[in-house]
Amino acid sequence: MQNSKWWQTGVIYQIYPRSYYDTNGDGIGDLRGITEKLDYLAWLGVDGVWISPFFVSLMEDFGYDVVDYCDVDPIFGTLEDFDRLIEKANSLDLKIILDLVPNHTSHEHPWFKESRSSRDNPKRDWYIWRDAKPNGDPPNNWRNMTTGTKDGSAWEWDETTEQYYLASFAAIQPDLNWRNPDVQTAINDVIRFWLERGASGFRIDMIDFLAKDPQFRDEETSSDPKHDYVANAKYHINQPETKAYVRAMKEILMDFPNALTIGEVGYHLSSQQLRDWSVGVLDIAFNFKLIHSPFEAVAIRSMVDDYDATIDTDGQPSYVIGNHDMPRPIKYGERQARLAAMLVLTLRGTPFIYYGDEIGMENVDVPLERRQDPHVVYETGKTRDECRTPMQWNSEDFAGFSSVEPWLPIGEHYSAINVEAAQNDPYSLLMLHRALIQLRKESHALQSGDYKPMDGTPSDCFAFYRTAGNQKVLVVLNFSGEKQSVDLSLADQNFEIKVSTQLNRKGQLESVTELQPYEGIVAVQIG
Ligand code: NOJ
Ligand code: CA
Repeated sequence: MQNSKWWQTGVIYQIYPRSYYDTNGDGIGDLRGITEKLDYLAWLGVDGVWISPFFVSLMEDFGYDVVDYCDVDPIFGTLEDFDRLIEKANSLDLKIILDLVPNHTSHEHPWFKESRSSRDNPKRDWYIWRDAKPNGDPPNNWRNMTTGTKDGSAWEWDETTEQYYLASFAAIQPDLNWRNPDVQTAINDVIRFWLERGASGFRIDMIDFLAKDPQFRDEETSSDPKHDYVANAKYHINQPETKAYVRAMKEILMDFPNALTIGEVGYHLSSQQLRDWSVGVLDIAFNFKLIHSPFEAVAIRSMVDDYDATIDTDGQPSYVIGNHDMPRPIKYGERQARLAAMLVLTLRGTPFIYYGDEIGMENVDVPLERRQDPHVVYETGKTRDECRTPMQWNSEDFAGFSSVEPWLPIGEHYSAINVEAAQNDPYSLLMLHRALIQLRKESHALQSGDYKPMDGTPSDCFAFYRTAGNQKVLVVLNFSGEKQSVDLSLADQNFEIKVSTQLNRKGQLESVTELQPYEGIVAVQIG
C-alpha cells in the first residue's frame, strides 16, 4: 500500500522462542530454530515476527527477567545466530521485532546487584528503594501483579541495606527507577543496539508501569472481592511521565524508518485510553479487548464499533486473540477458532497471531510435576504453561520440535494437530489463515479501508464492510451454534465469496445467505 508503513498493512506473528524449534537437542527452542522456520512463516504470508525475550536471563520468568539486555542467552544461541536470523529474515522480507522489558530487570542483573550492595552505591537510585513504615510495614499498599501472590505487597525487604525495593511483578523482578535519567539512557542504548543490529522495533513489556507516583501514595482499597487493582490504580501505574519516556524512545526509532513500537498497555483500558497511547506515543498499543470479550456477536460488535471509532484514522488499531499469557482461542472450539481468525484478519488494524494458534494447538493440561511457569496467573489456578508448549511441526517423536523430551510436554493430539498435516489438508485452519492473509495482501480495502458495521443482521451475526476507494469487502460472521439466515439484499451490490471459514464455499453471494453454525465468509464486491 502506498505511503503506508509495513506494520500498518501487515500481519505480525508472535514466537515464544523456547517453544518454536530446537536445533541442538536440548529440548528448548533456539534462534537457529527460528531461522530454520522462517521459510514457513514466509509461506504463511506474515510480514513481521515478534520474538519473546531471548536475552541473557535467569529464566525465572523465562526471559522477562533480564540479566544482560545486549546479549543472547546461551540457551537460545549467540549474537552471531541473531545476525544470521536477521540475514535470513531480510532475504524473505520479514521484519523481526524484539521484546523489550524496560520496567524491571532480574534481581541478578549487575545493575541491581550494585544497587542493593549499599545505600550509597551510585546505582542505588536506579531502582526504587524506600524505608519501611515505623512499624516495619512496606512503604505503601501497592500490590504485585503475580496472581499467585496477587494480594501480596509489591515491596520486598532487603536485609543488607534495610530498605524495601519495589517489584511490581515477581520479587525477582525489581522495578527500575525511570525517574532517573541514567536509567532512561541505559535502556535507550539497548534500543539503539538492537536496531543497529537489524531489529525492526520492539514490543514493550508492561509499559504503563514505567513511571510511578513520586509521592508513592496508597491506592484506594475496596472490600469488593471483584475489585480490579490494576484497572483502578491511580498511583502505581499510568503516570503522565511514561508517555514522555516513550516519545524519547521513538526519537531513536526515527533513524530506522521501518522500526515500530508496540506497547503492552493494560487489558482494562478504555478505547479512549488506548487512543491516547496510540496517537503520538506508541505506534501500536495492544488491544486485548477481544481476548476479554464474551465470544458473542453483540459484545464483539459493540467493542469493535467503539474502539474503531475512537482510534479513528489518527492511530493504528490492533487486534490480539492469543499470546503467551492467555489461554489459546481454540478454547472456544475449532469452528469458533476459525471464526476468530477470520475476524482478526479482516478488521481494520494490525492483526497478531500467536504461534501455534494457526494450526489450532490446544491448551495443554501440564501435570504439576512438569510445571514450569512459577506464576499461577489465572483464577483457575492454572499457569501460563498451557499456551507455551512446543510447536507441533509433524507427527514424528516430540512433534518434530526436538530430538529429546522438550521442556514442556507436547500437546496430546499432536499427531493430528501439526503443521505438516495442516499443509496437506486444503481445508485446515492453517490453510484458512494463509488464504485470509493472501486475500488481505491483495486487498486495499482489507489492508487499510474503512470499517463500517452492517445493521439488520440476526443478533448472533456480526457483519461489516471494509471499503477503500471503489473497493468493498463484506465480512459476515455467525457467532452461534445454529444456522442463521442473513438478509444481504440491502448490501445492494454484487459480492463474490472469496474465503469461508470451512474453505468450502465460493461464488456469488445470495441476497439471503444461510450461514452454518460458526461460519464466516469474506466476500468481495464485483459490481
Ligand atoms: C508481561 C509479559 O507478557 C509476561 O509474560 C511477563 O511475565 C510479565 N509482563 C512480566 O514481565
Ligand atoms: Ca535448543
